[in-house]
Amino acid sequence: MTDTPDWNAYEAEAAAAAQAAASSDDLEEARVRFLGRKSDIALGLREVRDRETGMLLNGVRTRLEETFDTRAARLADDELDRRLRDEIVDVTLPGDELPLGHLHPITQIRRMVEDAFLGLGYEVRDDREVETVEYNFDKLAFLPTHSARSPRDTFFFDPNHVLRTETSPSQIHIMEEKEPPLYMVSIGRVYRRDAITATRYPIFHQFEGLAVDRGLTLADLKGTLLHVMRALYGPERKVRFRTHYFPFTEPSIEPDVSCGICLGSGCRTCKYSGWIEMGGAGMVDPTVLANVGLDPEEWSGFAFGCGLERTAQLRHDIPDIRALWEGDLRVLRQF
Ligand code: DAH
Repeated sequence: MTDTPDWNAYEAEAAAAAQAAASSDDLEEARVRFLGRKSDIALGLREVRDRETGMLLNGVRTRLEETFDTRAARLADDELDRRLRDEIVDVTLPGDELPLGHLHPITQIRRMVEDAFLGLGYEVRDDREVETVEYNFDKLAFLPTHSARSPRDTFFFDPNHVLRTETSPSQIHIMEEKEPPLYMVSIGRVYRRDAITATRYPIFHQFEGLAVDRGLTLADLKGTLLHVMRALYGPERKVRFRTHYFPFTEPSIEPDVSCGICLGSGCRTCKYSGWIEMGGAGMVDPTVLANVGLDPEEWSGFAFGCGLERTAQLRHDIPDIRALWEGDLRVLRQF
């Protein structure tokens, strides 16, 4: 061999390449170059003629193999460390906070009404919103000429089907389904063809109460409404009745609750009367009882209906009903 390599320099160069390798792939490349089948040392070993050179080259190869193995272990460790660091999921870290909502004011009122009536032993109903003319009007003894029967006031699908204009059809449904004594409250949406203003919206909610039993009187109605109004507005409330007309009650009344803002002395909310109108009520008309096959001589009943939006407006002093339908979180978050 003319130019025998300088094996010291070779070993140093190989060791430096091993140290310089920044990844397992780099290191493998260097290993092939300095220790592979076609490397100088492999070729050199093949041509060894004397023992001394053989020992020298074997020594170089063995030390280089150790160097590469050590470096390989080191790189594998580093790579594992890096992955552990980069791919870490710390399950003890607090997560991103999810915005937490709350119930819409109408739903809150609905639940308060349900609680108040469940406390009295009433059953809670949720009836259909598409009603027949028979249940929305006829069986509730609306006269044929009543203005609510007009498509100007009511949404009709066809001559026999409407979007219910009130929750009162629930009275008929439950009286047809069950034998008295009955105590129920029905809560849900009702629809009227009203233009949208600060006080009216074509969709709104009502709760409708009905009690049918033997010997019920206006005093029972008054006590029941007093209980519910106090649950909704506070224990100091008083209830009074004014006479009125509804097709399905006789006598019919409009209950007022004493104003909780001024406690009866008069303010803007109660229009300086000290009282707030709550809806309609009355003793179930004997005609309605007869319409569902109950004997008016044996059974008596009282009924009432109130709007939930109105209740929410009064409880929270919301001047414009539209705020309850617009879903503007800046408004709704306050309640
Ligand atoms: N349904 C009536 C309305 O929407 C309210 C009402 C009045 C309900 C008298 C009743 C009642 O149960 O007895 O204006």
